[in-house]
Amino acid sequence: MSITVAIDGPAASGKGTLARKVATHFGLAYLDTGLLYRAAGMKMLDGLAPIEAARKLSAADLERPDLRSAEAGRAASRVAADGDVRAALLDFQRAFAHRAGGAVLDGRDIGTVICPGAEVKIYVTASEGVRARRRHAELTAGGAQIALEDVQRDLAERDARDRGRASAPLRPAEDAVQLDTTELSIEDAVARAVALVAAHL
Ligand code: C5P
Repeated sequence: MSITVAIDGPAASGKGTLARKVATHFGLAYLDTGLLYRAAGMKMLDGLAPIEAARKLSAADLERPDLRSAEAGRAASRVAADGDVRAALLDFQRAFAHRAGGAVLDGRDIGTVICPGAEVKIYVTASEGVRARRRHAELTAGGAQIALEDVQRDLAERDARDRGRASAPLRPAEDAVQLDTTELSIEDAVARAVALVAAHL
């Protein structure tokens, strides 16, 4: 089976959880492409120019424990607006997507730029309030002390930058199925995504 599943959407929409569970369900490889940008962003904060940070990404960079922090999210969205950074990360993502055995990738531009030919494209959304509450719960469970309003403002700024950039802006591919998870449990959202993938097998 060499199906490619592209899952895109704004920050904290639930796309990561969904993508991981769909991959496990079908035994597909999974790539969280946000981690590439987060790792490049942290290298930039360490002092590298964004393009150098992207070119020099190593497996060890992807295992830093601070990649899930709000700081890494902000830095990621800054380096991600640079077209040269995106170009430097493209081949790795495409090769992953086309590996034998099939793959699920989640991000912002998987269905539009990385894998325009993906068999299944899902664009995951949720209301701003629900996304902020989910991300806040995630960050505080990880030990961070951060106010809900700060998380909400952070997400809004990041989404505006991701949607407004010239290079690969966040938007649904024309042939993507939209999945609004505002009022769905994780199980229900996964069941819908699994049904979409199963229809292509
Ligand atoms: O998905 P996650 O929140 O980890 O992504 C962090 C940031 O990386 C996003 O806000 C976005 O700017 C960038 N990103 C991107 N393209 C992707 C994945 C992430 O621009 N495919």
